[in-house]
Amino acid sequence: MIIVGVDGSRAGLEATAWAAGEAALRKAPLTIGHAIPRWALELDSGRYAEVAAWMREGGTSVLTAAQERARREQPEVEVRTVLLPGDARNALIDAARDADLLVVGNHGLGRVRGLLVGSVAYGVAAHAAGDVVVVREVPDRPRGEVVAGIDGSAASEQVLAFALAEAELRHAALRVVHAWAWPGPGPGPEEGSERAVLRDTLAGVRDRHPGVRIVDETVQGHPVEVLREAAAGADLLVVGSRGHGAIAGMVLGSVSQALVQDAPAPLAVVRTRGGK
Ligand SMILES: Nc1ncnc2c1ncn2[C@@H]1O[C@H](COP(=O)(O)OP(=O)(O)OP(=O)(O)O)[C@@H](O)[C@H]1O
Ligand SMILES: [Mg+2]
Repeated sequence: MIIVGVDGSRAGLEATAWAAGEAALRKAPLTIGHAIPRWALELDSGRYAEVAAWMREGGTSVLTAAQERARREQPEVEVRTVLLPGDARNALIDAARDADLLVVGNHGLGRVRGLLVGSVAYGVAAHAAGDVVVVREVPDRPRGEVVAGIDGSAASEQVLAFALAEAELRHAALRVVHAWAWPGPGPGPEEGSERAVLRDTLAGVRDRHPGVRIVDETVQGHPVEVLREAAAGADLLVVGSRGHGAIAGMVLGSVSQALVQDAPAPLAVVRTRGGK
């Protein structure tokens, strides 16, 4: 099951359209969720019952609009809608526990000028238990390529598996990008040793997935810059929630953090399981 959060914003509808497409590809059902305060969901008598009913109605019409969009995009996908209790971040994280994927827009109704990503979008990307896609600019005509950012950490395997599955579903090529920058003074490691990182990660993958065209690149530069550039016009950019440099206690690595802000394509944050 795929779940998408909506809040009445255009970005939420775009996220719904993307999620419906993904559901069609995966032949999975789609759940559309909208969170309203718990009291508004539960209260049905007393002084504020009318306000609560009014809020539920508002929430239901947000869901209905999104459901119509999903049906228009992908008539064959099974869609259900649900009002969720509580603040949107926690409600979506809870509701997504049994989901294969949680999808949100990069911003919502509360958009503050100058802020690149909303608090719900950022919060779920950082804290959800599973994989999250933040839908931003959907390229008009994506060029048929899924881009995966790989740093050679244990997370790379999971990132690669997700990206491969997406490339296969979309009949797209897979571009695996390993960016590296030598932070210290003096000469850094040979470029050859960086290439070996990618070679190790990709070993066997090509044989197991002969149907996917895989391009690999080792690029010198800051990973955020390199991945931004590589992902422009791509169908999807895939990164891990944390990588090599993860500081204990930090839920998102710095590269993922920066890309959640402004990736030039829909961004999948693959939850790194089992530590780093
Ligand atoms: N109440 C909600 N219920 C379900 N999903 C929501 C809700 N609010 C936001 N979302 C999801 O999160 C996405 C991002 O919205 P978010 O609220 O993070 O941005 P914002 O409204 O611009 O900023 P903020 O709320 O932090 O001021 C939305 O496109 C939608 O997918
Ligand atoms: Mg909001």
